[in-house]
Amino acid sequence: MLCRMAPKWVWMGVAMVLAEMRWCYGCWEQERIALLQLKPFFDSSLTLQNWADAEEGSDCCQWERVECSSTTGRVTQLSLNNTRDLISGKWYLNASLFLAFEELTSLYLMGNLILGCENEGFERLSARLSNLEVLDLSYNFFNESILPSLNGFSSLKSLNLGYNQFTLPIQAQGLCELINLQMLDVSNNDLRGHLELPFHPHINLLELDISNNNFHNHIPLEIGSYFPKLIYLNMSKNGFDGSIPSSFGNMSSLEILDLSDNQLSGIIPELLAIGCFSLDTLILSNNNLQGHIFSEHFNLTKLWWLQLDGNNFSGSISNCLSTSSLSILDLRDNHLSGRIPGWIGNLSYLKDLVISNNHLEGPIPLEFCQLHYLEVLDLSKNNVSGNLPSCFRPPSIIHVYLSDNGIEGPMTNALSEGGFLTTLDLSNNHITGRIPNWIGGLSALKFLLLKNNNFDGEIPLQMCHQFYQLSLIDLSHNNLSGPIPSCLTPDLSAEPPDPNDVSFLDPPFFPFFQPKRPLKFTTKHFSYSYQGKILRLMSGLDLSCNKLTGNIPSEIGNLSRSHVLNLSYNGFTGPIPSTFSNLEQIESLDLSYNNLEGKIPFQLTKLNYLSVFSVAHNNLSGMTPERTEQHLMQVAMREILTSVDCHCQKIALHLLNHYLGLELQQWMKIVVFLT
Ligand SMILES: *[C@@H]1O[C@H](CO)[C@@H](O)[C@H](O)[C@H]1NC(C)=O
Ligand SMILES: *[C@@H]1O[C@H](CO)[C@@H](O)[C@H](O)[C@H]1NC(C)=O
Ligand SMILES: *[C@@H]1O[C@H](CO)[C@@H](O)[C@H](O)[C@H]1NC(C)=O
Ligand SMILES: *[C@@H]1O[C@H](CO)[C@@H](O)[C@H](O)[C@H]1NC(C)=O
Ligand SMILES: *[C@@H]1O[C@H](CO)[C@@H](O)[C@H](O)[C@H]1NC(C)=O
Ligand SMILES: *[C@@H]1O[C@H](CO)[C@@H](O)[C@H](O)[C@H]1NC(C)=O
Ligand SMILES: *[C@@H]1O[C@H](CO)[C@@H](O)[C@H](O)[C@H]1NC(C)=O
Ligand SMILES: *[C@@H]1O[C@H](CO)[C@@H](O)[C@H](O)[C@H]1NC(C)=O
Ligand SMILES: *[C@@H]1O[C@H](CO)[C@@H](O)[C@H](O)[C@H]1NC(C)=O
Ligand SMILES: *[C@@H]1O[C@H](CO)[C@@H](O)[C@H](O)[C@H]1NC(C)=O
Ligand SMILES: *[C@@H]1O[C@H](CO)[C@@H](O)[C@H](O)[C@H]1NC(C)=O
Ligand SMILES: *[C@@H]1O[C@H](CO)[C@@H](O)[C@H](O)[C@H]1NC(C)=O
Repeated sequence: MLCRMAPKWVWMGVAMVLAEMRWCYGCWEQERIALLQLKPFFDSSLTLQNWADAEEGSDCCQWERVECSSTTGRVTQLSLNNTRDLISGKWYLNASLFLAFEELTSLYLMGNLILGCENEGFERLSARLSNLEVLDLSYNFFNESILPSLNGFSSLKSLNLGYNQFTLPIQAQGLCELINLQMLDVSNNDLRGHLELPFHPHINLLELDISNNNFHNHIPLEIGSYFPKLIYLNMSKNGFDGSIPSSFGNMSSLEILDLSDNQLSGIIPELLAIGCFSLDTLILSNNNLQGHIFSEHFNLTKLWWLQLDGNNFSGSISNCLSTSSLSILDLRDNHLSGRIPGWIGNLSYLKDLVISNNHLEGPIPLEFCQLHYLEVLDLSKNNVSGNLPSCFRPPSIIHVYLSDNGIEGPMTNALSEGGFLTTLDLSNNHITGRIPNWIGGLSALKFLLLKNNNFDGEIPLQMCHQFYQLSLIDLSHNNLSGPIPSCLTPDLSAEPPDPNDVSFLDPPFFPFFQPKRPLKFTTKHFSYSYQGKILRLMSGLDLSCNKLTGNIPSEIGNLSRSHVLNLSYNGFTGPIPSTFSNLEQIESLDLSYNNLEGKIPFQLTKLNYLSVFSVAHNNLSGMTPERTEQHLMQVAMREILTSVDCHCQKIALHLLNHYLGLELQQWMKIVVFLT
């Protein structure tokens, strides 16, 4: 602004006084030229569009991913994250390209497929860029050969080397001159050996992430004294063994500690629970820790996320936790015993309570009725007894897992206000009485598993609409009687997945509606655990082993997205509705052990995916559907989809699309390859 208004001769004078020429719009000429030299290396078709020479004197401080100092006008930040065109492949960086940016404080080069440096590496650069405070080299292919040259960046506060190919342990690499370092991330490399401390005088370190490497042996005993100011420490996914050193208790500033997925044993040191009073997140999952969770000396009042799942903790859940601020409490897969403590109901902000697969007993405490923010409750695989308290109606609840317990009595009004309730798994309990009518009002319900209880009476008519829209319903092994409620309803979920479209594998609108735990469902005579994205693909109705009677309503044919239908072991009469030919996705159809009669509809032969079809023990006549090679291929396809991870599913869908005409033999090779 100022220079525009100033007379030309004033500007000329100033320019001559300046040792280096600066353009009137604030950008330094030699930096503008240097940026244009950088451009071809970091130019994907989507980025750096406005890095253009077209208009002479264009202000490079206004270019995307460039920030300049407001006082000197020099480039201070270059955010070249993920800017390289992936098609260009791996490459060696010419670090000298950055020599012009003498006042650079932050340089982000993450995700650019850089293999290393050409000729001279960062040495010359570090001598010149004495102000550099933030260097992000993550998600590249650097290895330890660059480390000595980083030592020269004497002002460096934050160094991110995550997701590269470092193998030698940190101490051997020597970053010892970086005494101002506050943040060091070497996570997701292949660092091996012991963690030997001090690896340099890094007492100023606030954040250290060495997760997902191959460190092994003990955690150094004095770790707490070496990093007294640490706020974030992540050592998860390594091979650390031995016990958790008591010196953690000296880290009074520590807010986040993650030691999950190691082989740590012994107890949680008392000094940690006393001294780390700033902790808000403590994650010790999947180790071999034992003993009581905490002793009475507990000062972690700020703790809101505690994850101790997958260990060997025993004893009761210590009430010292009642003084914390817990929002997420995950204690699943341990050996905890005793009653479910009532004080948990006093944790006002509790959102996720997961204590499945322990030895807890007694009823769900009445105090749980105060948990107004509860979203996930998982008490499955314990010895929970008694009734569901009818005041337990958390308004935000999304997922409830109470299977494999001894819950008894009728359902009353528990959970009846769950407007967001997506998953309700009460399988394998002793619940009696009718399925309450209000279940029909739970509009978000997708997964309803009431298998193996003592429900009796009719399936409520109120469920009729839902019945044809739920993803998974299992009411098997109860004492339900009367007919299947029939209703004419537009089937909203009727669209079969398009194999070209992989977007249906993504989580639904909000990830928190994605089921958190595996759900068991019987398909093709086997009980499978379905979880994650697969659950979205899965749709089925199991009413087997009840006392249901009457004709099978022809509306069942509207379940065109269903993969599984099991009506066996009931008292159904009349014919198989010809609308069953609309069950285009059906793989497992079991109508056995009923009193059905008449002809098996010939239309069923067009059910391409059908691989298990049972009509035994009825009075039916006619041919059962044949299985062609094409069927088997498609069934194999479905198997892949339910057994492998998301990446393989995408590959499989791609292959299905391109090689639909393959011979079965070739197909099986692909299946073997993928699984
Ligand atoms: C580059 O990465 C840094 C650190 O992760 C981030 O703060 C910044 O927003 C990123 N910039 C762009 C343009 O993606
Ligand atoms: C590296 O970049 C500098 C500065 O642009 C240039 O002078 C030098 O020739 C380049 N080195 C190589 C090997 O291309
Ligand atoms: C480290 O990277 C450099 C440059 O790419 C390469 O020459 C060297 O062989 C690598 N060293 C190891 C141990 O992989
Ligand atoms: C710790 O690191 C692991 C692996 O890099 C990551 O998955 C996890 O989210 C991190 N933990 C925290 C608390 O940030
Ligand atoms: C670490 O904590 C222990 C016990 O709390 C204490 O005796 C020791 O002096 C502390 N060390 C440092 C360096 O603060
Ligand atoms: C407990 O934590 C508070 C801060 O929350 C701290 O002031 C106090 O000294 C701690 N008590 C003990 C016994 O360490
Ligand atoms: C679990 O801890 C108990 C002692 O409480 C011990 O006897 C048992 O061996 C431990 N189990 C494992 C798998 O470490
Ligand atoms: C829960 O909190 C209330 C009020 O703060 C208190 O009276 C009650 O004793 C607490 N219940 C338990 C089980 O700790
Ligand atoms: C479950 O609890 C009941 C009492 O409520 C007890 O009789 C039974 O032995 C317990 N079962 C197991 C497997 O702990
Ligand atoms: C099942 O319900 C019938 C009435 O429909 C009743 O006579 C029978 O006792 C019930 N059986 C069980 C095991 O609850
Ligand atoms: C149908 O349900 C019955 C009883 O629950 C079970 O035994 C059978 O295996 C199921 N049929 C199929 C095809 O899964
Ligand atoms: C549902 O099924 C009934 C009876 O088979 C049929 O009349 C109706 O058109 C079907 N509705 C839809 C939306 O397919």
